Amino acid sequence: MRNECRQEADSIFNNDIKCPNGELTLEALSEMKHLERCFLEIMRMFPVVPIVVRKLETPLKINNELEIPVGTNVGIPIVLLHRSSENFPEPDQFQPDRFLPENFKKRHPFSYLPFSAGPRGCLGMKLATMEAKTVVVYILREFEVETSDKIEDVTHIPSITVQLERGYYFRFKKRVNGPASL
Ligand code: HEM
Repeated sequence: MRNECRQEADSIFNNDIKCPNGELTLEALSEMKHLERCFLEIMRMFPVVPIVVRKLETPLKINNELEIPVGTNVGIPIVLLHRSSENFPEPDQFQPDRFLPENFKKRHPFSYLPFSAGPRGCLGMKLATMEAKTVVVYILREFEVETSDKIEDVTHIPSITVQLERGYYFRFKKRVNGPASL
């Protein structure tokens, strides 16, 4: 992941038209597709909001058998939805290619909900995605990043938003062979 994201970022930073004077542009950021897939995959495995709740305004029928009445609060467990092997084979594996357009469109539109959906879905989704990509791109441009922590070591405390159970440690080493614009 790290190398592919870095190669992608370097090739765009090195392009004077896309990044004049080495400054990131909105257009350049939107071309960082692999980085975006990594962000989406992280948000699948570790959604910041693990559950959303909605109060039913109309009765909800499940499999034509069960009817849940108006006024019931229904919890949608985003974190479980994202780890369902029906939608995401090998759900505990980090596989950003799940978010290639051809794979994305095979899934139900509501199988992936890190920003919820519908009229009360997140208004800041695009901004949050751009911010996350920007921070990572600038870090990768300046530093080699290493960790001995593994993705399966990441544990969290469930709450309204997910909190990490402990700190995770990274080593940052200043790059000596960064893009030409450095
Ligand atoms: C990674 C970052 C973010 C995540 C994972 C996230 C996720 C969510 C989720 C899941 C909801 C729905 C909550 C619910 O239905 O109960 C929500 C709502 C909302 N988010 Fe975000 N959000 C993020 C960043 C942002 C940012 C940067 C902004 C604003 C600049 C923002 C503005 C909002 C607003 C205004 C709502 C309420 C929408 C409504 O109820 O009509 N979010 N967010």
